[in-house]
Amino acid sequence: MIRMENLTKRYGKNTALNNLTLHVKEGEFFGYLGPNGAGKTTTVKILTSLVKPTAGTATIGGHDITRSSLAAKKLIGVVPQAINLDMELTAWENLLIHGLLYRMKRGAIRAEARKWAAFVGLSGALDKPVNTFSGGMKRRLTIARALLHGPRVLFMDEPTVGLDASGRRDLWGLLKRINREGATIFLTTHYIEEAEALCDRVGILDRGRLIALDTPAALIASAGKIVVDVFEGDTLTSRFFPDRASAGAFAATVQGSATIRNANLEDVFVKLTGRRVVP
Ligand SMILES: Nc1ncnc2c1ncn2[C@@H]1O[C@H](COP(=O)(O)OP(=O)(O)OP(=O)(O)O)[C@@H](O)[C@H]1O
Ligand SMILES: [Mg+2]
Repeated sequence: MIRMENLTKRYGKNTALNNLTLHVKEGEFFGYLGPNGAGKTTTVKILTSLVKPTAGTATIGGHDITRSSLAAKKLIGVVPQAINLDMELTAWENLLIHGLLYRMKRGAIRAEARKWAAFVGLSGALDKPVNTFSGGMKRRLTIARALLHGPRVLFMDEPTVGLDASGRRDLWGLLKRINREGATIFLTTHYIEEAEALCDRVGILDRGRLIALDTPAALIASAGKIVVDVFEGDTLTSRFFPDRASAGAFAATVQGSATIRNANLEDVFVKLTGRRVVP
């Protein structure tokens, strides 16, 4: 559904994306992870035709996003990181403008707006100005707007930033449903547990290159399923083991305090990108 072939993006001497080849299947829930500046937003901007690649190609549903971008654009919905709603207008007016931009008929816009507002739990708020909404309501409205024209692929760049824990869980449920109903989802996030909970596959990007690509379970298994955290003074080191027996044998040799636990996707991320912030 999404095919990137040898994508490169340079900003002057800075290579934001370095020869990236990545295919996302139809109906897949794909997680796109990486440290700050890895090139995630650059990728999303290329795939939503906001930025042109320096080299390489990208197609959505077979349409070249850099050439026949109109055909590709009709297939996609975008939830940008920065909320770009018209704050002075009502939720309904925001959806109406979006529908008109996509050349939908008024009757269809009204029907779809009702449907998606109900889906994201905003039915009672359609006639309220957006500047009276909470952050979570605004986020849900950007999702309803992204879905209004019936896209088959949804791009979301850090959609849960700024949400409280229960708001984030609500959104997870919503995204799962959207995906179950057939949409392909391309999700960028810094909340690694979010990717682990939601995604069929994740790709980890580092300095413009894809350094890992697999299911969360396979990535965790390849790093080592069991972790021993060792605190020595104020330094935390994590060691990976294939099973509890070998982890336990190692922990018994440790001088400081050692904790044995199951590995998670965040451990894999830290191991591969090598950037753990030790408090
Ligand atoms: N318009 C621009 N002009 C120059 N350099 C840019 C521009 N946009 C991005 N970059 C650079 O490209 C690289 C990748 O940036 P990008 O925004 O894609 O990273 P990211 O993975 O989304 O990071 P974050 O997690 O912080 O959102 C960075 O080095 C960034 O400084
Ligand atoms: Mg970004």
